[in-house]
Amino acid sequence: RTAALIGAPVETGASQAGCLMGPASLRTAGIAAAIEELGWQVTDLGDCRIAPQDPSAHANPAIHHLPETRAWIETLEARAFDAAQAYDLPIFMGGDHSMAAGTVPGFARHAATLGRPLFVLWLDAHPDLHTTETTLSGNLHGTPVAYYTGQGPFEGYPPLQAAVDPANICMMGIRSVDPAEHRLIAELGIDVHDMRAIDETGVLVPLRAFLDRVRAADGLLHLSFDVDFLDPSIAPAVGTTVPGGATFREAHLIMETLCDSGLVTSFELVELNPFLDERGRTAQLLCDLTGSLMGRRVLDRLTRSYG
Ligand code: ARG
Ligand code: MN
Ligand code: MN
Ligand code: MN
Repeated sequence: RTAALIGAPVETGASQAGCLMGPASLRTAGIAAAIEELGWQVTDLGDCRIAPQDPSAHANPAIHHLPETRAWIETLEARAFDAAQAYDLPIFMGGDHSMAAGTVPGFARHAATLGRPLFVLWLDAHPDLHTTETTLSGNLHGTPVAYYTGQGPFEGYPPLQAAVDPANICMMGIRSVDPAEHRLIAELGIDVHDMRAIDETGVLVPLRAFLDRVRAADGLLHLSFDVDFLDPSIAPAVGTTVPGGATFREAHLIMETLCDSGLVTSFELVELNPFLDERGRTAQLLCDLTGSLMGRRVLDRLTRSYG
């Protein structure tokens, strides 16, 4: 099996600098070796880049770095499409979550060439469902899901290449939702599991139900993993920490269950801000979680000799 590592040093969608260093931090933590050790053939394709952009204004005065965001979307959409054709598992190392406005449509376009639907598992404290009209912060990492499901208007963004059906999205870990996002969740009927739901049922009940839907539809599955899905006590290296996040054990169980399903066809690690990390612990944890997603296990559960 082949995997590609692609750096997306995007930080223009966030309020503070630092996500630019995300790919470097993951490489330093040993992400390539962690995957190779599990029997994958890994190719590091290096970092994507965009040309310098001229500033431009938007009717919503809060918005910043719109031309950079547009350029990143165009670049990453093409890179995601190409990588999905060439590798079994493309892994995008972010970069703030505005990058998903490029990666997800690229993977959706790839799925369409196969005549199969793209599903998205969105692990995040936030639904990132603002449009350019509704964002109050102007931080465009809060917008990718609205964009790739075809909401609008998105003045200043590129035309959407391939949309994801809102019915094919599952969100887990959600615990910070703005009013406009709340309305859109209801309107689109997105399958959102907030932390209360996870406390009530655990992570496996909603995850297995979603994976059954992916399998039944013969879908491709993209995993978008925002660092702030995790509890800040174990993952401090993110600019948008929200208390009450997923635990170490919940996160590993999700990754192991996804691995067992064999359904994940693309993956991105987003919002890692190494400037906020503590001795690399968040980058290290993300490498360990990637290992669980890609086959690491403590015991061979098919041949265990006890019980
Ligand atoms: N909803 C907030 C905003 O629009 C927070 C977004 C956080 N998004 C993220 N990808 N970390 O500003
Ligand atoms: Mn996010
Ligand atoms: Mn988030
Ligand atoms: Mn559900």
